[in-house]
Amino acid sequence: MRRPPAPYDADTRLGELVVSEDEISARIAQLGKEITADYAGRAPLLVGVLKGAFVFMADLARSLELPIEFDFMAVSSYGSATKTSGVVRIVKDLDLDLTDRDVLLVEDIVDSGLTLAYLRRNLIARGPASLEVCALFVREGNAAVDLDLRYTGFRIPPAFVVGYGLDVDERYRNLPFVAVYQPG
Ligand code: IMP
Ligand code: MG
Repeated sequence: MRRPPAPYDADTRLGELVVSEDEISARIAQLGKEITADYAGRAPLLVGVLKGAFVFMADLARSLELPIEFDFMAVSSYGSATKTSGVVRIVKDLDLDLTDRDVLLVEDIVDSGLTLAYLRRNLIARGPASLEVCALFVREGNAAVDLDLRYTGFRIPPAFVVGYGLDVDERYRNLPFVAVYQPG
């Protein structure tokens, strides 16, 4: 089992290292090349889902050799700290108009896919020219709906993870890697 690097290894709530900082940056460089090629000649609008996607979005955007624009929306899903109910509320809506835009929705992690399914319906209703999804992490085996992800960073095992934007009660978002969270 891989452990988080020092000094984070001293935190007993952090379990197995799932994806290292180097693995994340290597994968984002690949995604950046792929997206840059796919959108050649176009100016996509990246829509980040706050708060979790902000770290990934910052790195992904800098790997794209395209004239991109950004927008963000914040959603809160009802449920416990570690489980989504699928009922989503928009806490902050987009500033920009999506009409006829090539929209790339950037998500931190897709678990059941219920949050994503809601967002997809919501954004499609605004009349974009295209809508694709780029999710850094997809949890294996939990999808309740068809995910239809155009770009995926990593498939990860069914454990709750923190770091690189992902939190538990707002903590750990700034870890440069992703590790299993093990309370108690
Ligand atoms: P879904 O609706 O079940 O797909 O859940 C998606 C949302 O739940 C993500 O955008 C995250 O905010 C949160 N989430 C799901 N799994 C994890 C995790 O392992 N760590 C931190 N947040 C998570
Ligand atoms: Mg969260």
